[in-house]
Amino acid sequence: MRRHRRPGFKASLPLVVTLAALLLGGCGLGKQSALSPAGPVAQAQLSMLWQSLAIMTVIFIVVLAVFVYSLIRFRARKTDTELPKQVHGSTALEIVWTIIPIIIIVALSISTVHYAFVLETPQTGKNAVQVQVIGHQFWWEFRYPGTGVVTANQVHIPVGKKVNFTLQSADVVHSFWVPRLGGKTDLIPGRTNTLWLEASKAGVYYGQCAQLCGAGHAYMKFTVLAQSPAAYTAWLHHMQTDTVSVTTPEEKAGLALFKQNCSTCHTIQGTPFHGNIGPNLTALATRPTIAAGTLPNTAQGLATWLKNPPAAKPGAKMPDLGLSQSQIQSLVAFLQTLK
Ligand code: CUA
Repeated sequence: MRRHRRPGFKASLPLVVTLAALLLGGCGLGKQSALSPAGPVAQAQLSMLWQSLAIMTVIFIVVLAVFVYSLIRFRARKTDTELPKQVHGSTALEIVWTIIPIIIIVALSISTVHYAFVLETPQTGKNAVQVQVIGHQFWWEFRYPGTGVVTANQVHIPVGKKVNFTLQSADVVHSFWVPRLGGKTDLIPGRTNTLWLEASKAGVYYGQCAQLCGAGHAYMKFTVLAQSPAAYTAWLHHMQTDTVSVTTPEEKAGLALFKQNCSTCHTIQGTPFHGNIGPNLTALATRPTIAAGTLPNTAQGLATWLKNPPAAKPGAKMPDLGLSQSQIQSLVAFLQTLK
């Protein structure tokens, strides 16, 4: 009888490959994937990942082949009358399976240790940019030393330049990670860590606190806006010279409410408000989200936030101010003027 040939493996191989690609790409299609690097640091880190994966794959195949061979070649037979020769305590084997892993670990550690030092060494040169990052429960503060510019939850960087980040924490341990650009490094209270990143293309890259830091950890996101050097310089200048202008009665009412309720905690460039407990709100309206990625930066999002911050975001330090609906509306109108 002719053996029935199943349409099986050969036909389904393209399907398996496609599915695997989609699965891997699934992360790639997302906003935070270390598998689609957008700068030299992320590229180097991905190369290391592939390198160790290749070594592990070879080990896996060799070990599996030896295992399967042994199962078949040395299986018990009905005719066996005694135990085969035992190899327990074989000096030769012990030496071999001690030395091989040592060689593998040394090979893996050479590039890992090398890059660990390269990435934490601040990059010098006139093109290097400095950004100070301070992690808070549960938001990100970004300071540009020597410029007076402070912002929150969205960090602007120039494309094609090395950006040195100094990482500090105001409270607990956080972790700075922008999967498509590289990272990640912890922000540890009482110490300053460093790392540098570079974006090869203009665009928005998504970051996230990568260390469980409390109730709002999952809502501790940020964006990296990589701009052309000219646009970046223009932004820095705008942030230094930004002024607040309110025109409508509602915006004016919002400004008065802000002074009364918000100014002890928040700073706005170009106003007498210099609170430094919460995020700096200069040019708030230009940010894509509020509360570190918790809500969209729309009238609706701002209103939801102002109504009851801890309800909108677990662990938020900003209290419920008990504002009325019309007060919230005025504040939203004012906040939307901060461009
Ligand atoms: Cu900060 Cu998790």
